[in-house]
Amino acid sequence: MKFFIDTANLNEIREAQSLGVLDGVTTNPSLMAKEGITGKNNILKHYVDICHIVDGDVSAEVIATDYEGMIKEGEELAELHEQIVVKIPMTKDGVRACKYFSDKGIRTNVTLVFSPGQAILAAKAGATYVSPFLGRLDDISTDGLNLIQEIRDIYDNYGYETQILAASIRHTMHVVNCAKIGADVMTGPLSSILGLLKHPLTDIGLAQFLADYAKGNQ
Ligand code: E4P
Repeated sequence: MKFFIDTANLNEIREAQSLGVLDGVTTNPSLMAKEGITGKNNILKHYVDICHIVDGDVSAEVIATDYEGMIKEGEELAELHEQIVVKIPMTKDGVRACKYFSDKGIRTNVTLVFSPGQAILAAKAGATYVSPFLGRLDDISTDGLNLIQEIRDIYDNYGYETQILAASIRHTMHVVNCAKIGADVMTGPLSSILGLLKHPLTDIGLAQFLADYAKGNQ
């Protein structure tokens, strides 16, 4: 499973990249705003800065909601850097734009996916990635992991090549469970990646090894 980090914070991206396990970055307009990145030129420059830190795909989301606007904006984003993947919302115009981009060889990430039907449409439109938001489903007492499983089953039935990018990951067990289901990619905060490191028996075992070494090497 590929690991993407879901942030626009350059320090967090650097830290995840330095671990050597990072495969890409996803951003969205809320994450950009959280970092105080505003104004078109600053936003475009920030995407390029991210591309220079990470070895892998960087999702950059269009703001336009109409077909023509998405095409114009998406083409501009794709021109920025070869690592850019154009992120498009799951709407009627978004599906049309996704098909346009896939026909042109521009990679896409269809976002805000909450049902298997939406995931089928994204695959039919040739999306590179589909982003089901499992955390937001869990937030409303709906089983987000079940959606990932349903999409996995459907895509396997037909050999769809669209990669399942499990999004809105909140914690380490989301990561582990998505891996068990066979999600192609997960995107989550730095804490969901670093949390995978933790086990008390690792800490206890290491302390014991070091103490025993110290006893024999005084
Ligand atoms: C996906 O690409 C989105 O940026 C993201 O995963 C949304 O996560 P949230 O529900 O924690 O905002």
